[in-house]
Amino acid sequence: MRFQVAVSLVLMAVAVVALPAWSAEEATGMKSEMVMPFGGEADVAFAKALWTAIDGYRDWPIASEYYASNAPHGAFVKIHYSVVTVDKTPYHVIVKDNFAGEGATLETVAENPADFLSWVTVMVQREAGYDRENNDWFWVNYGPDGMIRTTDTGMAMAGRVAKGMSMGCIACHANAGGGDYVFFND
Ligand code: HEC
Repeated sequence: MRFQVAVSLVLMAVAVVALPAWSAEEATGMKSEMVMPFGGEADVAFAKALWTAIDGYRDWPIASEYYASNAPHGAFVKIHYSVVTVDKTPYHVIVKDNFAGEGATLETVAENPADFLSWVTVMVQREAGYDRENNDWFWVNYGPDGMIRTTDTGMAMAGRVAKGMSMGCIACHANAGGGDYVFFND
């Protein structure tokens, strides 16, 4: 609720302050980026380019074994790390395959990962200032085919996902040791 109130206040401020000086188009672009902490055009475009950039990540040399995990991640997961280039800029990237479904065990998943791959969650450390309060991480949740998944309210899960909310990628990963939002190195 508090989030929604804040959103409408920002909207009003943008409308009042920006409209006289800028074209409607510019004001609209500005609004969508300012109002939505995630799922806006720039974040979706970055997430699409990222999916192409991480192609082949299952062959990256730095990866975990398959291991058991908990909701909201899959029953079993495997993480991969590398540096990839998006729009000519190199970024640290952690890709996590999430496995679930009937019959999923450590053995069946390891034997036939594609049968159980349910979604792919990725963290990218963006340029300084992207999200200063949250270590500049970009969060995205893809389906196994690379389609960006959406929230119940239809927002694309890409960008500063659920920033400012009490649940979601940022709120939960804020509990990781060392303040880096990453659990596996704790
Ligand atoms: C309720 C808590 C919670 C939420 C919400 C959550 N995660 Fe995680 N995530 C974890 C935990 C705990 C781990 C470490 C254990 C594991 O790997 O399952 C983890 C691990 C990861 C990793 C591997 C790097 C690391 O920190 O160890 C990635 C990548 C990741 N999560 C992405 C995401 C994305 C993207 C979202 C949102 C779409 C998300 N997570 C939402 C708890 C959460």
